[in-house]
Amino acid sequence: MSEAVIEVRNLVKEYGELKAVDGISFEVMKGEVFSLLGPNGAGKTTTVEIIECLRTMTSGHVKVLGLDLSSKVREIKSRIGVLPQDFNAFDLLTVKENIEFFGGMYNRSLDAMDLIKAVDLEEKTDEYFKNLSGGLKQRVGVAIAMVNDPEIVFLDEPTTGLDPKARREVWGVVQGLKEQGKTVILTTHYMEEAEVLSDRVAIIDHGQFIAFGSPKEIVDRHGTGSLCIIAGADVTCMKILREQWPGMETKNGNCIIKLESKNSLPEVIYALDRSGGNYEQIQVTRPTLEDVFLKLTGKKLTEGGDLANGK
Ligand SMILES: Nc1ncnc2c1ncn2[C@@H]1O[C@H](COP(=O)(O)OP(=O)(O)OP(=O)(O)O)[C@@H](O)[C@H]1O
Ligand SMILES: [Mg+2]
Repeated sequence: MSEAVIEVRNLVKEYGELKAVDGISFEVMKGEVFSLLGPNGAGKTTTVEIIECLRTMTSGHVKVLGLDLSSKVREIKSRIGVLPQDFNAFDLLTVKENIEFFGGMYNRSLDAMDLIKAVDLEEKTDEYFKNLSGGLKQRVGVAIAMVNDPEIVFLDEPTTGLDPKARREVWGVVQGLKEQGKTVILTTHYMEEAEVLSDRVAIIDHGQFIAFGSPKEIVDRHGTGSLCIIAGADVTCMKILREQWPGMETKNGNCIIKLESKNSLPEVIYALDRSGGNYEQIQVTRPTLEDVFLKLTGKKLTEGGDLANGK
């Protein structure tokens, strides 16, 4: 049985009239990657910054590494690492100098070159921070978050604004943290990121959890079922499919059928075979966290985000 390194009970944060965090409870287990997935303004940063001892809560109970948030701030801060959402380092210091500078703020810090290797930045060791691309800057940020050899690492939207290649490189760094046994709390509004990296995800909207569990559990519980897509079906196939599945949709010449049970796919194949018509291809797609979010809220996760086009 794994131990809980973060325990949050009935956490509430109000900014005046606005309830930014509205009574959430969860635990994060040692060694897991736990993601808060939600759109802009959902309450992700507020939640993690309360746990990081950077903001105060309105009410609730939070323990980090078994320590009470209200009385053990110094100890908690020394045992966690943080990549803030608006991370920036010193433009006119090099990668190594920046890491050494932040390391100097702790009694004990890891070797800068070891951290540079861990985030795969050896070639940029002596490059000024200002000359790095966005993705490389975020990797410096992860190295700085690791400088005190923390047990828990918080990464607040580490890939927002990055291109897909840089984003995947940061994913690799996060997976490296997990392999080292670190507990990682990630916030993101990219469902694919949460799906790929996380052991468990809390989908958050308007300060409340609307779904919780492993990506697979969430999809199984709230998903819309798998879809069978038949490309290039001729009139004969179409006719039979429509007779048997009156709810079938057609999009861009593809027939789309919701698979309601385990038998549905063989039934589709059998019907196509029996029709004597032709088709080009059959594909089955599982619903994603994005589909779940759309189903539960009626809106797209990335709507209103700075990367709303799902880069
Ligand atoms: N210091 C503050 N004072 C007043 N309102 C705030 C403050 N910080 C956040 N808010 C509001 O609280 C809500 C939650 O904000 P928060 O930054 O936690 O969301 P988020 O999920 O991190 O969003 P994003 O994806 O844009 O980073 C938003 O409506 C925001 O405008
Ligand atoms: Mg935020």
